[in-house]
Amino acid sequence: MAIRILPDQLINQIKAGEVVERPSAVVKELVENSLDAGATRVEIEVEQGGLNLIRIRDNGSGIPREELPVALQRHATSKIQNMDDLERVGSLGFRGEALPSILSVSRLTLTSRVADASHGWQVSGAGAYENEEPKPAAHAVGTTVEACDLFYNTPARRKFMKAESTEFRHISQFINRIALCRFDAGFTLKHNQRRTLDLAPADSEPEREARVAQICGDDFVRNAIRIDEQRMGLSLQGWVGLPSFARTQADLQYLYVNGRAVRDKLLGHALRRAFADAMHSTHYPAFVLYLELDPVGVDVNVHPQKTEVRFRESARVHDFLFGAVHQLLRRQRPEPEQHHHAHFAESATNMSVQQPMRYATPSYSSPSYSSSGYSSQNFSARESASSVESLWAASNATTPSLQESAAEYPLGHALAQLHGVYILAQNNTGLILVDAHAAHERVLYEQFKQQLTHGGIPSQALLVPEQISLDEEAADALESRHEELRRYGLELDRAGPASIIVRAVPPLLAGQDIATLLRELSSDEDRRTNTTHLGEVLDAQHRIMADMACKAAIKANRRLTLPEMDGLLRDMERTELSGQCNHGRPTWVQVDMAELDRLFLRGR
Ligand SMILES: Nc1ncnc2c1ncn2[C@@H]1O[C@H](COP(=O)(O)OP(=O)(O)OP(=O)(O)O)[C@@H](O)[C@H]1O
Ligand SMILES: [Mg+2]
Repeated sequence: MAIRILPDQLINQIKAGEVVERPSAVVKELVENSLDAGATRVEIEVEQGGLNLIRIRDNGSGIPREELPVALQRHATSKIQNMDDLERVGSLGFRGEALPSILSVSRLTLTSRVADASHGWQVSGAGAYENEEPKPAAHAVGTTVEACDLFYNTPARRKFMKAESTEFRHISQFINRIALCRFDAGFTLKHNQRRTLDLAPADSEPEREARVAQICGDDFVRNAIRIDEQRMGLSLQGWVGLPSFARTQADLQYLYVNGRAVRDKLLGHALRRAFADAMHSTHYPAFVLYLELDPVGVDVNVHPQKTEVRFRESARVHDFLFGAVHQLLRRQRPEPEQHHHAHFAESATNMSVQQPMRYATPSYSSPSYSSSGYSSQNFSARESASSVESLWAASNATTPSLQESAAEYPLGHALAQLHGVYILAQNNTGLILVDAHAAHERVLYEQFKQQLTHGGIPSQALLVPEQISLDEEAADALESRHEELRRYGLELDRAGPASIIVRAVPPLLAGQDIATLLRELSSDEDRRTNTTHLGEVLDAQHRIMADMACKAAIKANRRLTLPEMDGLLRDMERTELSGQCNHGRPTWVQVDMAELDRLFLRGR
């Protein structure tokens, strides 16, 4: 075949394959046009998942009569004129490709009226614009675009469409996504004549929060922390879900760069890292985040649907995002008022005493729970009291007298221990329940980390050095890491081809099962893929310390005294991320007096 220039309509159809590959992409382009036109109300109506009809009506600035035919032409835009404009583009659109692409695969009608016109004007076409003159039409100031019979002339594409409900789900997800970032506009969505969403413009902070709650759920807002960080020309705002609010799917992750929803590997990585220390690696954090920077620092022209961006200084952006979220999570201290409330699932009125109580916390049967070595079967008889006692001796926790006001201590004072597992404590608002092992593990882990950054974890010589037999490969591995392990307070020498001798260990690990710990350390490589234990944590260092913390933490059935329990509560209050164990499970919950009263139908 000879080389020939393709006809315009075919070019547009090819482009449409990239820009508007499914109904939700058409909705996206049209809604973005409305927002670029300054609309404060956008009405979206679709039928049969958008395949039959997509109608978007807005109250934006409108298009003057003489520009209507131009709007349907390829590469026609009012948003940029030159390279400079493109480099600092602030509008959602800029390529002048959306309307001609949509027109090429549908029957399209564009009706619009500008403020100083007495009525509106309309142009239309099926597959292509036939240069007909605009016709007068009744319309308020603003624009309506109607696209019918999507992909009617590209049967191959039409065949790829999924069920109506799937296509509609994509549309509805897109509207949620844009509504979470354009609080200045109101949105309504109708599917097959049925209204599924109605959002008024949200101008105040409470209104914005209400919109976030409407889209992401009340639970998210209740379990999220506000973030507002500015540094070196970068700004990050929004809501970060607490690690204990982790999801099993990545379905609550909204990230915007300069008002544009993006999916970005680099930013995704920064966020995963920020949470890695506080969340089980099979879970996903929840967030609604707005990153702002000088438009010159971002290239938005890298993806046909503009869902990806490139950063001029990607390392700086990555580190800023990681740092801001990481710091925010670490700054969290117990605030019973705000978080970790236990909600009894049943309302008190229909709750029978025999019913088991349920908490709004992860299920205890989750596999990760027992993997921490904290189940009664795993209870080791070798477990000695020394680790706990030395902790309390070492920590400068001044055990407060019970007369001291509970107000000083968010986690209150210990009352008792339940089945050797939970600590019961009392604070101003009611009852606090603490998972002693999980909490202690976090406290130790953070202590180890502190010590490591301040010169290394102290070590204590063993009176009787312990000889441990391993396979030869493991002994080699440990020997080669001899220097590194010294920093963790572990001193060892090779004793033979398949054995090593341990001479000193951190005081907290005295009397613990060192052999198992070392075997685990020696197979560190294999464990990189084992996600049950801090799998995604940044580096081996943290895994070692997490292992040590788990080994040294209080085991089940270890009886604690009240001062020991209070000591742990005080340590938790001081410790970063103490609300979750290393696997992201909550370490404590609050049960308010009001909640208890409801349980007993008190005060009715
Ligand atoms: N709802 C609307 N209200 C006012 N003007 C609009 C509207 N929709 C489109 N326009 C005008 O039509 C032009 C073409 O729209 P189109 O979506 O094809 O391109 P674009 O938005 O400029 O760029 P992109 O292809 O990146 O979306 C726009 O530049 C704008 O001037
Ligand atoms: Mg556009």
